[in-house]
Amino acid sequence: MIFLHNRWNFYNPVSLYVGRGCRQELTKHLHGQKILIVATKRGHKQFEEDEFLMPIVDNNFVTWMNSVQENPDLDDLQYEINRLSGLLFDAVLAFGGGSALDTAKVINVALTSECANKSLRELIQFSEFQKNLRPSPLYTIPTTSGTGSEVTPFATVWDHKNKKKLSLAGPAVWAKVAFVDAALTDSLPLGSTISTGLDAINQAAESIWNNNANGITLGYATRALILGFTALPLLASGQGGQRERDQMAEASLLAGLAISHTRTALCHSISYPLTAHFAIPHGLACAFTMPAVLRHNLQAEDGRFAEVALALTGSRDLDGLVESFDRLNESLQVVSRVKEKIPSLDALLALKAEMFTPGRADNNLALVENLQDILKSSWAAK
Ligand SMILES: [Fe+2]
Repeated sequence: MIFLHNRWNFYNPVSLYVGRGCRQELTKHLHGQKILIVATKRGHKQFEEDEFLMPIVDNNFVTWMNSVQENPDLDDLQYEINRLSGLLFDAVLAFGGGSALDTAKVINVALTSECANKSLRELIQFSEFQKNLRPSPLYTIPTTSGTGSEVTPFATVWDHKNKKKLSLAGPAVWAKVAFVDAALTDSLPLGSTISTGLDAINQAAESIWNNNANGITLGYATRALILGFTALPLLASGQGGQRERDQMAEASLLAGLAISHTRTALCHSISYPLTAHFAIPHGLACAFTMPAVLRHNLQAEDGRFAEVALALTGSRDLDGLVESFDRLNESLQVVSRVKEKIPSLDALLALKAEMFTPGRADNNLALVENLQDILKSSWAAK
């Protein structure tokens, strides 16, 4: 049994509605208001065709920002902020995957009057500035089960020109209410289901092998792993249905709650240049090194991995835990999907210096001095 003796706190102010059909509750929050809805073009269509969400459009004064791109770009976001500048909204509604939710978070903060003379790059660089901001209430409705962005105080922004991943983080970024309704994920294509699902699983794992872990985050993350390891392989093999979608939605939410406190760790840190240079989907890029990073972190075992092993495999045996992570990646063909996008092992190793992201890699439980072994064994895995 693990007892963490360090002092800790936990804070997450996002009010939650969870379960199939819970998105109906949104109509009780938004009526007669000026709202900005942030989505992709596909998300815009999905929203307007949804019987439970359509009343939002009918009963409010809606402005759409439906140009969300995957991995939102700093310059594109700045363009949208400039376009919407001066408009006042009673609320902002984020509808979509992690990119839509992160875009909405960024725009909502940037549109506050205090930020009128600041560029987005300045906002990201000087997060202290956020303390006195009063953004509009943000309502988040994820349509994928992956990032957990609906309950985290950070948003990922990409500087594609310089191949850098940035993050807007701080108290102004929190949503007011999140609606986690797995029915919205039923039509998600298989590739996105796998990639986003792997993100949820990896975020749970990274929250466990994390220096900021505590009793709450370990509980959330362990349950997220149980759900994810059960449901995602079934969805990937075509044997899953609504129950597995519901399980992945809960896994994603719980992992999001866990990393809202711990943040992520080494796999995420390694993943950012893989996405920036080779356009590898985020979840796949994170899962690529997951078994190797687990093996590395076992050297810092303090009881937490045995607890996770017991929850996942029914035994405290750590070899069994490693095997279950190997099997997951193998069954979802993670390594082959990633290697399709990277020209060679040398091309992978050439990015080593970019893979230590401060604020991510240093959360990792076991110290990492050299990534070479982790990258090589990930490359050689099945
Ligand atoms: Fe992630």
